[in-house]
Amino acid sequence: MAAVQKSRGISNAQAEGCSALWSHPVFSSFTVMHFHDENDENEIVRNTNDDATVSRLSAIAKGYFADEFVKYFVKRPVERSPIMNRGTYIRQLVLDRLVHQFLELDIPGKEKQIISLGSGFDTRYFMLKKRGLDIGCYYEVDFPETIAKKAAIVHRRKELSQYLTDARAVKGGMELVSKHYCLLGGDLREWDDIAKRLMEHGFKVDAPTLVISECVLIYLDPLDSNRIIDWLTRELTDAMVALYEQIKPDDAFGRMMIHNLQSRHIELRGIHAYPELKDQEQRFLRLGWDHAKALDINMVHDTLLDPRDFSRMAKLEMLDEMEEWRLLSEHYCVAWAYKSCNAKGAFSSITLEKRLPHEGQTLEPQKKTGLSRLHLRV
Ligand SMILES: C[S@@+](CC[C@H](N)C(=O)[O-])C[C@H]1O[C@@H](n2cnc3c(N)ncnc32)[C@H](O)[C@@H]1O
Repeated sequence: MAAVQKSRGISNAQAEGCSALWSHPVFSSFTVMHFHDENDENEIVRNTNDDATVSRLSAIAKGYFADEFVKYFVKRPVERSPIMNRGTYIRQLVLDRLVHQFLELDIPGKEKQIISLGSGFDTRYFMLKKRGLDIGCYYEVDFPETIAKKAAIVHRRKELSQYLTDARAVKGGMELVSKHYCLLGGDLREWDDIAKRLMEHGFKVDAPTLVISECVLIYLDPLDSNRIIDWLTRELTDAMVALYEQIKPDDAFGRMMIHNLQSRHIELRGIHAYPELKDQEQRFLRLGWDHAKALDINMVHDTLLDPRDFSRMAKLEMLDEMEEWRLLSEHYCVAWAYKSCNAKGAFSSITLEKRLPHEGQTLEPQKKTGLSRLHLRV
């Protein structure tokens, strides 16, 4: 490992000091796969969802934030490092701030809808419903294999299915549709098919729409992700995108991140097309979107958290490796953009600075659930 880091220009101190990072999915599990075709590659990309879900459960168990639904999607919980738990918390927090503000926008007319691209086992829909928010429809799209598993779990667990109205299994149980929540299987690289299926399930191009890409578009070739963004630009009247993904592939740390992912056959195909914050903004602005803003996670951490959150997090667990934390956080960004024909004024109120009422609840250390006591997926 050290040889790799040195050859990539990382100092010895950084190389040796980065031990807590090795458990991060971008650095861990150096599985060498000898056979490598498109099915393998899709499978590897699908597995990144398990990493994300396990990380979320780890942060929840430590008390960083509350989400009682994630446990139903994890078979084998794993405790993550403090760096990862903090990162997972901030990822959750920034996207929650954007999603909540979108849902609270005062836009008369059509009900709001959300599409989560590559949703994996994300449980945000259930948390939003639990908090009493109204959503016209929340669509989740991922590979059919992932959606089929999620549909089965949602269907089986009354704790989840209680939030669905008129739910029915479709495609032989591979998908699940209901009045306010639809789980649709498909390959994002075949966007025309997905767009057609969204329409079949009530998606409206003239309804205010939030598109979430949480560590997803980065896995696609820019040709494929741009096809999706072009479609959103062309077809939707009032759209917002909330995106979270890796950036900065070209510095020493970035090269090491890419190299280590590649050794697991994980390709961040989009990272070189949008390597810097300004590129993340330009990917929307050049298409005529009204506004786009991108921040790295250091900026969020240093300026947008409630100051009381630092002492709260310190009580949950110690984060000694500040240098590593900063390096990693510099390589992740949150970006959001909107374009609107009917509600520019409303969309322009969205800001990452606005804290949510439920963030206050996490300001006191939560009663730790403890991974071993969690009710696990069977
Ligand atoms: C890192 S996971 C993130 C999952 C979820 N967004 C979250 O943050 O918990 C990436 C997800 O994107 C999905 N994905 C990547 N490429 C895809 C494609 N071409 N079609 C459908 N889903 C895709 C994967 O299956 C996986 O669930």
